[in-house]
Formats: sequence, structure tokens, C-alpha cells
Amino acid sequence: MSISIEHMGKVALVTGAGAGIGREIALWLAEAGAKVAVNDIRNEHADAVVAEITASGGEAIAVVADCREDDAIDEMVATTVAKLGGLDIAVNNIGMLPPGRGLKPFVDYRGDDWRDITDQNFTLAALCGRAEAEVMQAQGGGVILFVTSGETTRPSPYNSIYAASKAALNHLVTSMAVELGPDGIRVLAMAPGTTLTETVAAAFDEDRIAQIVASTPLRRMVEHDELARLAVFLTSDLARCITGQFILADAGAFLSRNRPSN
Ligand SMILES: NC(=O)c1ccc[n+]([C@@H]2O[C@H](COP(=O)([O-])OP(=O)(O)OC[C@H]3O[C@@H](n4cnc5c(N)ncnc54)[C@H](O)[C@@H]3O)[C@@H](O)[C@H]2O)c1
Repeated sequence: MSISIEHMGKVALVTGAGAGIGREIALWLAEAGAKVAVNDIRNEHADAVVAEITASGGEAIAVVADCREDDAIDEMVATTVAKLGGLDIAVNNIGMLPPGRGLKPFVDYRGDDWRDITDQNFTLAALCGRAEAEVMQAQGGGVILFVTSGETTRPSPYNSIYAASKAALNHLVTSMAVELGPDGIRVLAMAPGTTLTETVAAAFDEDRIAQIVASTPLRRMVEHDELARLAVFLTSDLARCITGQFILADAGAFLSRNRPSN
């Protein structure tokens, strides 16, 4: 018996794939054989990832779009299908605090904060999922994977809107899985622990990083490639009986009693 994970002939779309975790997921899906549509709002970042994939013998296209726009989402999905021949795997990865929306005490968050942060971390992912599911229903199956957060497993003081938005996605996965399962569509979330992407490195100083590492059972952060491997597994046939779940990948951080609060 041998085990291999491969996505040969599959078409994958990864949102926010120009940097960070999304970029790594796009690279690993391509390495596993998928043709990858690389979405980002920053065209030069999307193009660079496409160039990396093609340089190593893979197939990829850039689908530059601002996923806060409904029409842009529909066009991104339609372009993926038209240019790559379908949609088997969708990874909805965009998230984090939008520019100008930092950590705050709960009582200081105002309406625009709520709208911007939930748009970035819940609504746009849900709308991407809608457009992807419609195509997958017509096609006869697929996998939709949302990237949520370990912050959904514990209170997240001063980051309450972000955590609640990601928790809403974890729940959305359960409803989508029930509705879409009969169409052969699996719906999952993966919830990363702290991962030193450029965005996180810019936001956290050394002390903060050291505190997180010290309070995490495995005494480390999560690496980009570890999340990408998990995404490849969850979207593969090896995970074909798993749906409606969120999978925590946080080096045990959720078990910590002395994790620093934000
Ligand atoms: N890094 C962490 O520690 C961590 C921990 C838990 C969860 N997450 C989640 O993982 C995901 C990826 O995080 P990251 O740290 O890699 O983020 P990142 O900020 O490094 O990368 C996000 C990418 O998305 C793109 N993007 C942002 N808004 C967009 C839009 N409207 N349309 C299209 N593209 C857009 C950005 O240009 C960027 O390239 C997010 O959902 C985040 O909430 C990250």
C-alpha cells in the first residue's frame, strides 16, 4: 500500500494568495499538481506567485480582484472556470484587520470598525463561498476550505470583532456542509495559530512574539508550510469523509492558560 496526496488535473482557487499563508497554500497546491488561480488585490504579488509556480513547472493564472466587491468575486470565479476548466478546490484565505482598523477596547469599536472588520473576515469569504458553491453544484462536487483563526477557540480581548467574525465562519461551514453535501461538496475551515507572516511581523514586537512562543505547548509558532500541507490534505481525497469541521492548527496554543492577551 502506498499513500500519496495529489491534485493532478484539479483546479484550485486561493484568495489572498499574493503573500503569507495564502501564497504558501497556492504553491503547495500547485506542487501537488493542481492548476491554481492566484487571487490577490495586489496584482504584482499575484503575478509573482504565478511566476514562481510556472517556473517550477506548474500551471497558474492571476485573478486580480478586490474580494470586498460582489461583482469582482463573481468575475474571479468565472475567469477561473473559463481559463482553467472548472473549480474543484477553493481556499478562502483573505482576512486580518483591514488597514486603519487596529486592536481596541470593545467599547471603542464603532460602526465603521464593525462593518470593515466583519466584511474582511466574514462577509467577503462567505460571498466567495457562495460563488464557488454555485459553480461546484453545477459541476457535481468540490471542496471549499475557509481559513479562520485559533482566536475562535478562546476569548480575544481587544480583538473581539475579528475573533467573532472568524467564529461566524466556523459556524457557516456547518450549515454549508449540510446544504451542499448532497451535491458532493465538502466544506471545511482550518484555524491557524500565530504564524509569522509579514503582516504579523509588522504588528508584533520581539517581546510579544517571545511571550506567544513561551505560552504555547509546542514552544513555537506555526509555520506557513505546515498550514499549506494541512490545506493540501484537507482538500484531497485522503480527507474525503471530513466535512463541516474546523481543524485547529495552533501548536497547542488553545490549551494555554497563560497566553498573553492582546
Ligand atoms: N498570520 C497569522 O498569525 C494568522 C493566524 C490566524 C489566522 N490567520 C488568518 O490567515 C489568513 C491569512 O493571513 P496572513 O497572515 O497570511 O495574511 P497577509 O496579510 O499576510 O496576506 C493576506 C493577503 O490577502 C490580500 N488581500 C487582502 N484583502 C484583500 C481583498 N479585499 N481582496 C483580495 N486580496 C486581498 C493581501 O493583499 C495579502 O496578500 C487570514 O484570514 C488570517 O486572518 C492568520
